[in-house]
Amino acid sequence: MISFSAVSTPLKGIRADVVAMFVPQDVKMLKAALAGITKLSPDVATAVASSSFTGKLKETLVLFPAKTSFRRLVLAGTGMPSGLAPEKLRRAAAAVVKTIADLSPRSLALVEPEGTGMPVESIANALAEGVLLSSYRFDKYLTVEKKPSTLRTASVVCAQKSSVADAKRGLLLADATCAGTILARDLANAPANEIYPESLASRTRRAAKGFSVKVLDERRIQSLGMGGLIGVSLGSNRPPRFIIMEYRSRGGDLPTVVLVGKGVTFDSGGVSIKPAAGMSEMKMDMSGAAAVIGTMTAAARLGIRVHLVGLVPATENMLGGSAMKPGDIITHMNGKTSEVDNTDAEGRLILADALTYADRYKPDLVIDLATLTGACVVALGNVASGMMGNTQKHMDRLKEAGERTHERVWQLPLFEEYEQQIKSDVADVKNVGGRWAGAITAGLFLKKFIGKYNWIHIDIAGPAILEEEREYIPKGGSGVGVRLLIDFLNHWKEN
Ligand code: BES
Ligand code: MN
Ligand code: ZN
Repeated sequence: MISFSAVSTPLKGIRADVVAMFVPQDVKMLKAALAGITKLSPDVATAVASSSFTGKLKETLVLFPAKTSFRRLVLAGTGMPSGLAPEKLRRAAAAVVKTIADLSPRSLALVEPEGTGMPVESIANALAEGVLLSSYRFDKYLTVEKKPSTLRTASVVCAQKSSVADAKRGLLLADATCAGTILARDLANAPANEIYPESLASRTRRAAKGFSVKVLDERRIQSLGMGGLIGVSLGSNRPPRFIIMEYRSRGGDLPTVVLVGKGVTFDSGGVSIKPAAGMSEMKMDMSGAAAVIGTMTAAARLGIRVHLVGLVPATENMLGGSAMKPGDIITHMNGKTSEVDNTDAEGRLILADALTYADRYKPDLVIDLATLTGACVVALGNVASGMMGNTQKHMDRLKEAGERTHERVWQLPLFEEYEQQIKSDVADVKNVGGRWAGAITAGLFLKKFIGKYNWIHIDIAGPAILEEEREYIPKGGSGVGVRLLIDFLNHWKEN
């Protein structure tokens, strides 16, 4: 990963392969933002004046100032000046990365934009996130056309010496959350012949710095009575795993938060098989697990004040000769039974057991993340995850974290009327509820398996898997959830 630093070098002393400046889409403000550099190298003003650059968000202009210590200057538009939210800076920084790729720079200096009204810490954080997240490629399997990024170091150049320490804090946070996000992306993007339950467990062990990992094998899973996890795994030759991560920061009086991540390393649909077109995307059906693992690594690195537990039921959903069949009835860990009407609604079956397991920690809050339903993607698309739960105050806080990080969540109602859709004649509950309100009936199914705790369910099916690249997210696994959860936990005191 690119290594970041914060400095307060005056413009004329900056040494970097590329220097980036962020300017708003406003003639006066643009001029003011460029006053310093124009004084140093007057040709910049003429070049900008003869270009069509206006400072629109994501617009960039590459200049070669005559009289600076650095040879290349990139101007990056941040759009209309009002509300220079962190998201604009992430996108503008990502635009810089894209623009300079062909220049093969090894170092980049990002000049702190002034007059944004944002604290330096958030500015540095957003710029670093934009650079780090947009520099990501899943290219480990490319042997011919690999174009590795040349960028090694980046610095945020603060206007004031006194703000360097603040900037550093923002960079430290970005470094940890982006590393967690990138780990989550790598796990999601890896094909299912690389990431399967056992290898997901060993990769988690490898990533575990500052937290513990315990892995339950199929015999333990069986003896705990996790009928959902066992049932879904029956169609696969690869045995299931139940991954338990635990991190506790120093100091006392810590809240216990349990994160549960759906870890279906490949979802063929099982006997209720999915159509062939697009099925390969279902290698990313463990994106919830990836987000939990990524969050554990980031939380431990940052030393967040919390007792954090991560639970990942991991399995493939396949259709071998022993596979679970429509009509099968499963007994879950809490003794409740479910009728498997559709083997493709497997996520809720394995989450049910994990949600029961979570109760033993007497948690203050349990959050599960899952690529659970296509219905949620139909409802919200891919720019917001569906959020449901039984604790409004925590959900309100999570929504705020979603806005700050731009990993947005949108609440869906757990109306009890919909419960009759998952009523079964032969078991306590049925695993599908028909076409209507599909994301909600999935949430209502999970609700039947929670313990006596505060609970939030996040259906990340849309934002976790992108069919097209976005500003700072390449196509494929987005790693969504890590920045959201870290931000939420960092603001826990406000709960
Ligand atoms: N993993 C899928 C949901 C999914 C779909 C995630 C698209 C990401 C993108 C899940 O296991 C599933 O198959 N859900 C079914 C449920 C249905 C059978 C009730 C679905 O959404 O079609
Ligand atoms: Mn499925
Ligand atoms: Zn699935």
